[in-house]
Amino acid sequence: MRIIDIYRRYMIMPNLQQHMFRVAAVGSVICDSISEKVDRDSIVAACLLHDMGNIIKFKLDLFPSFVEPQGIEYWRKVQNDFFEKYGREEHIATIKIAKEIGVDDTVMTLLESIGFLQAKENFETADFDKKIAAYSDMRVEPYGVVSLEERLRDGRKRTIVHKPNSTDFVHFTEMAKYLKKIETQIFEKTSISPDDVTDKKISIYLEKLRDFDISVHKS
Ligand SMILES: [Fe+2]
Repeated sequence: MRIIDIYRRYMIMPNLQQHMFRVAAVGSVICDSISEKVDRDSIVAACLLHDMGNIIKFKLDLFPSFVEPQGIEYWRKVQNDFFEKYGREEHIATIKIAKEIGVDDTVMTLLESIGFLQAKENFETADFDKKIAAYSDMRVEPYGVVSLEERLRDGRKRTIVHKPNSTDFVHFTEMAKYLKKIETQIFEKTSISPDDVTDKKISIYLEKLRDFDISVHKS
């Protein structure tokens, strides 16, 4: 099933589609330059699906340009439909949606491993598919590709604003440390450096990804 048809079926907001396309493009760039044997199609599929439930946590009035042209009321209705069908926790919603689509177990496992809090596990595992999928998400911000440092700096600011107690901050610092180590693990095995992953570099991948075929169980 083509990813763009899946996005249409689930009414995924254009900015969120763009985020998942960018993450998948970062993953593709890494897969194409790494000497380790990796499952490129599963990594790309997981990246393309990893935030399917994210409208659940969006504060729709925060980025006015993201709700256009349909307008905020349209997206509030979509958000309410998501609440009713998939609950209030975006990661659980993403997993439910992936199951509903019928993606295979390899992709499901990768989806479970994408997330800031999994950084320690992703560092410790020998599975490069997990490392690449999770790391790629850490290189993209709402307006494009950034360095891991920059992404972590913004994440740190968000933690201070939204979760100001000290355990969250300690936890953030701990996970950030593992993400930097994952970056080293990945780029030790590639012909490129982290700085080579840029918006310009991923641009040739972005258009092609619209036609990416997600393999699903026949029902
Ligand atoms: Fe993401």
